Amino acid sequence: MDEVGQVLSEPNQMNHDETGPPPGQGVALPEGLRSLRVAGRTLLPIVQGGMGVGVSAHRLAGSVAALGAVGTLSSVDLRRHHPDLMAATRDARVGPEAKARINAANLVALRREIAAARLLAGGKGLLAVNAMRAVESYAPSVRTALEAGIDAVVVGAGLPLDLPDLAREYPEVALIPILSDARGVALVLKKWERKQRVPGAIVLEHPMWAGGHLGAAQLADLADPRFDFETVIPQALAALRSAGLEGRVPLIAAGGIRCFEDVQRVQALGADAVQLGTPFVATEECDAHPAFKRVLAEARDEDLVTFTSVAGLPARAVRTPWLNNYLKVEARLMASAHRKPRCTLAFDCLAQCGLRDGTPGWGQFCIDTQLAAALRGDVAKGLFFSGRGALPFGSRIVPVRALMQRLLTPGMAPEASTSQAPGGQPTPAMAGAASTALAWA
Ligand SMILES: Cc1cc2nc3c(=O)[nH]c(=O)nc-3n(C[C@H](O)[C@H](O)[C@H](O)COP(=O)(O)O)c2cc1C
Ligand code: SF4
Repeated sequence: MDEVGQVLSEPNQMNHDETGPPPGQGVALPEGLRSLRVAGRTLLPIVQGGMGVGVSAHRLAGSVAALGAVGTLSSVDLRRHHPDLMAATRDARVGPEAKARINAANLVALRREIAAARLLAGGKGLLAVNAMRAVESYAPSVRTALEAGIDAVVVGAGLPLDLPDLAREYPEVALIPILSDARGVALVLKKWERKQRVPGAIVLEHPMWAGGHLGAAQLADLADPRFDFETVIPQALAALRSAGLEGRVPLIAAGGIRCFEDVQRVQALGADAVQLGTPFVATEECDAHPAFKRVLAEARDEDLVTFTSVAGLPARAVRTPWLNNYLKVEARLMASAHRKPRCTLAFDCLAQCGLRDGTPGWGQFCIDTQLAAALRGDVAKGLFFSGRGALPFGSRIVPVRALMQRLLTPGMAPEASTSQAPGGQPTPAMAGAASTALAWA
């Protein structure tokens, strides 16, 4: 068994080089782009966003960090990557004991994955853990990541107003909220000021472009111009200025970023870095099944659909067979939504679940079941979250290093595109190429 394999089966406490790499070690930072500074480190201005369930685990996050950028592990249901932990929880039925066993197994998996990612990163870059506010095990996941020595905690799918309380004993860890508009930025700054915590950075995610759960109250709001980078970045900078934090909190733009020119464009608006999700799925190192990668790599923008998730938030995914069938009966299921005696699975993954709680207008499916099917490559049954915008390498699966190099090289047009830049005109780099059809279309 190699070193990473050993760490995965048996958690350990490795030391992390606190100094980090010089800027651009591994992949060069080109002239014309600024580096990103988070938690006292100088980094490439590229963040690989957290992706659950199990899509961004140790291999992807560690490989990205090893190149001097930010790699993010998703903390959700990581036991699914560990056959021994799955075996230990497979017979868990219902009730508090089953729930406690599954939650404990997920925390063991999180510790293992952080240790393995750290080994791969080799002391370079920055390692973050993503936790979703809407998930029931949010607080235990954040505490476990902090105890395991994570560099940054990133929280989306809800306002993380309590994050500074959870991380009070870890003042050196960067706490990073994912927000969509300037109102959210101002609110977090105000609430965190009372707790005497300054965000380590802020991710501004555009709901019209990103994959997964989206930061808008309802589907009808997704195209609201307040989310456009041209609007939200200057407004977030103004909010930082009026809070006396000018120049102290890096802004990271997420959603539809696909090439060097996109990075340059958001830096010109005042952001420090970009966060990408979908392009990192189409990499060799991504922890998802090869079929998962193909689904995202081969999807065109017109194959994507937005719908209301079981967490009550809008979400964007590829219209694969399960989602297509679900959407046909969604209205009927919503009309007959009612409180169930218990969660479909044993562990109540969501604090508020539309299916279990029978919430009117919320999704009526078990998200953990569908995301787990996607992770194991079941194209018929899985739910495949995806962002919009043609991928830099079209439908090809490439090494992380190739993706990073392409993002940091001017004039490299995506190999397939039908897309426009978030909130703006089609970028020259994104214009006009054809893309492949979905395998099942
Ligand atoms: C498959 C997939 C799963 C995702 N899961 C999460 C998640 O668990 N938590 C989160 O905060 N964001 C999640 N996201 C959002 C990404 O981290 C990222 O911010 C977003 O996708 C950026 O847009 P892009 O995909 O257009 O690059 C997910 C995105 C994808 C594509
Ligand atoms: S029914 Fe499914 S989505 Fe809802 S809380 Fe249970 S596991 Fe999570």
